[in-house]
Amino acid sequence: MIGTAALVCVIAIAGTIQRAAAGDDGDSPASQYTIYCAKCHGPTGHGDGVNASTLKTRPRDFADCATMSKISDDTMFKAIKEGGPAVNLPGDMPPWEQAFDDGEIKGLVAYVRTFCKK
Ligand code: HEC
Repeated sequence: MIGTAALVCVIAIAGTIQRAAAGDDGDSPASQYTIYCAKCHGPTGHGDGVNASTLKTRPRDFADCATMSKISDDTMFKAIKEGGPAVNLPGDMPPWEQAFDDGEIKGLVAYVRTFCKK
């Protein structure tokens, strides 16, 4: 299990470095999500990405409106920017501040909100 966690970590870091090297090239939040987030959170936000089963904590279902309505944009912003532990969530959620600027993170928060369809 430790080996798997380390591998997930390496993949996450590699993605961050790759992203930083690519610079801000104006990718849409949807494509950023698909590339960097879907592997854990799932392509449609259900927490069923290909890596989800390797995590200690399964990502929550972003399409669950009742749950998501209780989580503020600020909390999500902080979770994405500084990582899970910054908002008392597991370290399985990596910090993305090296990869995305604040505007891009706001775009990702807004994109995550689109999974709840009322
Ligand atoms: C290595 C797996 C992994 C990756 C990659 C990942 N996350 Fe997470 N994320 C998690 C886990 C685990 C949690 C904590 C459980 C939860 O709240 O869903 C989490 C939590 C979150 C939360 C907080 C939700 C809450 O409960 O407050 C947001 C928002 C989020 N992630 C968005 C993203 C975005 C956007 C990306 C891509 C830039 C991303 N995540 C990439 C695993 C990951």
